[in-house]
Amino acid sequence: MSAETTADTVETFDKKALFKIPGDTGLPFFGHTFRLLKDPISFGRSMRQKYGDVYRTYSFFKHNVSLLGPDANEFVLMDRGKNFSNELGWSPYLERLFPRGLMLLDFDEHKAHRHIMAAAFKTAPMKGYMERLNAAMPERIAEWGKRKSFQFYPAIKELSLDMATIVFLGLEPGPESNKINQALTDMVSASLGVIRVPLPGTIMRKGVKGREFMVDFLMREIPKRRGTEGTDIFTQLVNAQDDEGNSFTDQEVVDHMIFLWMAAHDTITSSVTTLVYELGRHTDWQGKIRQEIADLGLNDDSLPYEKMKDLVLTEYAFKEALRMNPPVPAMPRMTVRDIEFKGHHIPKGTIVGVSNIMTHRDPETWPEPEHFDPMRFSPEGGARERHRFAWVPFGGGAHMCLGLHFAYMQSKVIMAHLLPHFAIELPAGYETDFQIMPLIKPVDGLPVTLRALD
Ligand code: HEM
Repeated sequence: MSAETTADTVETFDKKALFKIPGDTGLPFFGHTFRLLKDPISFGRSMRQKYGDVYRTYSFFKHNVSLLGPDANEFVLMDRGKNFSNELGWSPYLERLFPRGLMLLDFDEHKAHRHIMAAAFKTAPMKGYMERLNAAMPERIAEWGKRKSFQFYPAIKELSLDMATIVFLGLEPGPESNKINQALTDMVSASLGVIRVPLPGTIMRKGVKGREFMVDFLMREIPKRRGTEGTDIFTQLVNAQDDEGNSFTDQEVVDHMIFLWMAAHDTITSSVTTLVYELGRHTDWQGKIRQEIADLGLNDDSLPYEKMKDLVLTEYAFKEALRMNPPVPAMPRMTVRDIEFKGHHIPKGTIVGVSNIMTHRDPETWPEPEHFDPMRFSPEGGARERHRFAWVPFGGGAHMCLGLHFAYMQSKVIMAHLLPHFAIELPAGYETDFQIMPLIKPVDGLPVTLRALD
């Protein structure tokens, strides 16, 4: 989307038409921001009860319209009418720290960049990433085993950061990668800070400093990677070409790389945490997955790329974890023309949002939504009859997550290395609370014990 169209969209914003949509603006000045940050699900449910599946709110100093349910997910994500801009939807949160990431590009430009980036997610490079994951995993899992009882969330976050260093950058963890990890963590924390300008002492300032560090680091690395055959994502991206031979400029590589890293890191951390939590509460499922891994007859724990598809139950369990706690719980867009949806007129320039977590936890679509039941994803569990957009943890349409196979791969590799050796145990009767925003995580860090099986 060009700057010209952006300005035009914002200028013609029709507030009168917007206010005909049912809803309210909440508290003076801050609107619903704090309620949304504190408990978006209860907030969404109460708004839906009052106003229906299409309602207006005010948060982060902007009017928004929420569109709920599978039909709304399909309407917005498939965007058959080219009605919605990702750039303008995500910019308020991501523009300063993750500008020009793939998810923030629109229409033809987005398509062209996605074509080039797709080269880094084809089977051959994916096999290379998997080898790196398999090689790095035993040492980390053995270290968890030695600790026996620990908080799972910080531990998997550390493991994911290590994996990102190895698989994304092709470096070994060390002092330099610690600085990189800190910079990235600061950027992610800043992206949902309420204060949006980098004033001294704010998390936004830390985030901006983090970005400066990352840009400088990656720019210095690019010339070393051009024309080489490294099996890490950075080197793949530096050398990626689409079928017509188009490639990225240095600045584009840097912007895409920083975004990719953010997109991959906390999402995998969050989803594997939910999976481990549910496996700790449903030990029968640990047994099923352990058996499925044993049935592969592997010589060591390394999971071969070709065997990934045979981990069917593991995949159902991961999908169920993603249903219950989708790491990206909502997807914002901005309308680039006036639109109609289910009898509501939504003017051009409106921020609209679809919420996968609201759909995933809606008992009309998912009976007993709080109950962990991976068999929902089996053919007998109704997977084929369900609305195609009832389960959208990875989004859908043109912007559907490019790293979804990577996410399945990393979660399966972790399970293949962990479950044959350890039972995951949680304190008796234990339940945790999950914080939803900015990313889903257990508020107490999830205390687990690993009991050795060997
Ligand atoms: C469980 C893990 C993950 C989840 C739940 C997840 C979720 C999502 C969602 C919901 C979107 C679409 C957002 C929108 O339409 O507004 C998205 C986009 C994206 N994700 Fe993921 N993601 C995960 C892992 C990854 C990984 C591992 C990578 C990279 C290795 C990645 C790379 C991307 C990219 C590049 C996009 C932008 C695609 C585009 O705009 O064309 N994601 N992800």
